[in-house]
Amino acid sequence: MAAEIPNYSIRLMRKEEIPAVLDLWRETGLSEGTYSLDTWFAFDPDGFYVAVTDNGTVIGACAGVLQNEDLAFVGLYVVKSTYRRHGIGRKIWDAVMKRVGERNAGVNPVPNQLENYRDRSGFPVQTSWCSIVTKAKEIDLKQFSDDPPEVNVQVLTLENNDTLNNVICYDADVCGFSRGNLIPILCQQKDSITMVAINAEDNDVCGYGNIRKNIKGGVIVGPLYADSSEIAEKLLGELFKAFTSEQIRDVVLMSIDCNRPAVKLMNKFGFENVSPNIARLYRKEEIHVKYEKIFSQHNLNFSIF
Ligand SMILES: CC(C)(COP(=O)(O)OP(=O)(O)OC[C@H]1O[C@@H](n2cnc3c(N)ncnc32)[C@H](O)[C@@H]1OP(=O)(O)O)[C@@H](O)C(=O)NCCC(=O)NCCS
Repeated sequence: MAAEIPNYSIRLMRKEEIPAVLDLWRETGLSEGTYSLDTWFAFDPDGFYVAVTDNGTVIGACAGVLQNEDLAFVGLYVVKSTYRRHGIGRKIWDAVMKRVGERNAGVNPVPNQLENYRDRSGFPVQTSWCSIVTKAKEIDLKQFSDDPPEVNVQVLTLENNDTLNNVICYDADVCGFSRGNLIPILCQQKDSITMVAINAEDNDVCGYGNIRKNIKGGVIVGPLYADSSEIAEKLLGELFKAFTSEQIRDVVLMSIDCNRPAVKLMNKFGFENVSPNIARLYRKEEIHVKYEKIFSQHNLNFSIF
């Protein structure tokens, strides 16, 4: 019997509703960091919409996080499974798109939604590359090389102001625009560690990465941005060492198939694809970034890369 649809309204998500939204997202079987919503909500609190029943139960969500003044990223699109196909999703989506306005926006459609978004929802620009979601059940830390020796990897903290600013600049160089306070918020994220790779000779930042717990168990690594495959490998090894060996299981990485060295690195450590490759769609035009520095994307729901 079809579930009766309760009275509900669409409005901005409140911080205290994050656990309920994460419970909905768990139903999809897709990954997400245990505190990633807190981070992105702090970054853009006006970007999260929910469908809430009159008694306060969250039954759907969607986010359209502004990456900068001209660009949004749409994700976290979910409706409680028993209430799907009653128009709830479309209403939340429309609220998000109203907020996005005339801006360009990107989305990572699950394969069965690709045609819906591309041909019926105004995201006609499909890139030539795809995202690859990969997972390794176990990681053998002995496999990791310590090269290059002239690169030091350390935990990124708010206290180290100069390094923090350099990482913000590094991130802006990779993405093509500054994401302002995102990196400081990421440093404070619970269940997670952010590390930076610094060239010992000139003190320049040459990569940074984050590892965090996954709501599905295991961990997610992303961002993993680096100047070279060797630096990405060194960062990855140090990120793993920062967690206990019991935690380093079911490790998820989100690379892009146009970065061949990144794919090679995943293969080297036994990562396997967990789903068909995910297309990238945009509303207006493709956003070009330094793809060669992206070894794992920051987040598939909220981040352009
Ligand atoms: C995708 C989802 C949120 C849609 O919510 P919903 O309440 O079932 O959607 P609606 O009832 O408003 O929409 C009905 C129809 O419009 C389509 N639709 C919904 N949102 C759409 C959008 N933004 N653009 C185009 N079509 C859309 C639906 O696919 C559905 O089509 P169908 O009847 O041919 O299957 C829901 O199916 C869901 O939670 N799926 C699992 C999570 C998921 O895959 N999310 C997408 C990640 S990219």
